[in-house]
Amino acid sequence: MDAAKKAEEFHRRLESAADATEAALDALLAPTTLPGEITRPARLLEAMRYATLGGGKRLRPFLVIESARLFGVEDASALRTACALEMIHCYSLVHDDLPAMDDDDLRRGRPTAHKAFDEATAILAGDGLLTYAFDVVADPATHADANLRAALVLALARASGLGGMVGGQALDLAAETAAVPLDQAETLQMQAMKTGALLRFAVDAGAILGGATPAQAQALHRYGKALGAAFQVADDILDAEGDAAALGKRAGKDAGRGKATLVGLLGLEKAKARCDELVAEATTALIETGLGEKTEILAQAARFVAARRS
Ligand code: IPE
Ligand code: IPE
Ligand code: MG
Ligand code: MG
Ligand code: MG
Repeated sequence: MDAAKKAEEFHRRLESAADATEAALDALLAPTTLPGEITRPARLLEAMRYATLGGGKRLRPFLVIESARLFGVEDASALRTACALEMIHCYSLVHDDLPAMDDDDLRRGRPTAHKAFDEATAILAGDGLLTYAFDVVADPATHADANLRAALVLALARASGLGGMVGGQALDLAAETAAVPLDQAETLQMQAMKTGALLRFAVDAGAILGGATPAQAQALHRYGKALGAAFQVADDILDAEGDAAALGKRAGKDAGRGKATLVGLLGLEKAKARCDELVAEATTALIETGLGEKTEILAQAARFVAARRS
C-alpha cells in the first residue's frame, strides 16, 4: 500500500470508530435508568450529552478499538471501554474549560459546557461522566471475565487520577503562576500526566482486552507514551499556529497565560522537530511488539497526531 492509500485507510477506520462510539455513547446516555438508579435528571443528562456527543476526533476510542483488534478482539467487544475512556476525556475537557481553570468559551466549535449551561451544571456533568465511565467498565456487559474488568478499572483509575490526568492538570495550573518556570523535564512530566496518561490507557486497554503477552503490552505502552507526548506537543503547536475556525477552540492563549509548553521552552521549530522524533519513537515501539503489518494502522495514527490541523 502506498502512503496515500495508507492515510486513506486510517481516515476510514478513524471515522468508523468515531461513528460506532457516537452511537454507543448516545445509547449509554439515554434517559432510561439502569437498575439501581432512581432517575436521570433531564438538565444534567442534557449537559452530559452536550459535552459528549456530536464532536471530537474520537482518537482515544479509535486507539482502544485498534489496539484490541491487533489481538483479534472484535470491535464491538472493545466499544464499551472505548466509550468509558471518551467519557473521561470529555469530562476533562469540560472541567479544563471552566473559568477556574483555562477559562475558555469555545470547544469543538460550540460554546463550552459552562457557557451553554451554567458552571454548576458543567461541574456536575463532568462528575457524572467521570463516575459513569467506571460504571460502564465495571458492568459485566463490558467483558465476561470479572478479573479482566477489574484490571481495566484499575488501569483507568490510575490513568485518570492523582498520578495521571488530574495530577497533570494540577501541575499545568500551578505552572502558570510559579515563581520559576517549569524546565523541560518538568514540562514533559506534566504533559505525560495531563494528556499522556489517557492516551497510554487507550493502548493498555487494548492489550488487556486482547490478552497481550507482557512483552507485547510493554511495547504497546511505549508506543502510547511516545504518541501521548507527540499529541500534546502538537496541541501546543496548534495553539501557537492554528486558528479557532479550524481548531474549534480558541488559539493563541497558552503564551499569554504562562502555560508550560515545549513551544515556549524550545520555540516552534524545535518543538516540531521533537514531535517528529516522537512519531519515530512510536513507530519503533510498534515494530517491537512483533505484531508485524497489523500495527501499520497505529503507525498512521502517530503520523496523524503530529500532522493534524485540528
Ligand atoms: C484536546 O484533546 C485536549 C488535550 C488533551 C490536548 P483532543 O484534541 O483529542 O480533543 P477532541 O476530543 O478531538 O475534541
Ligand atoms: C488539556 O490540555 C488536557 C486535559 C483536558 C486533560 P489543554 O488545556 O492544552 O487542552 P485544550 O488546548 O484546552 O484543548
Ligand atoms: Mg488546560
Ligand atoms: Mg485548555
Ligand atoms: Mg492546548
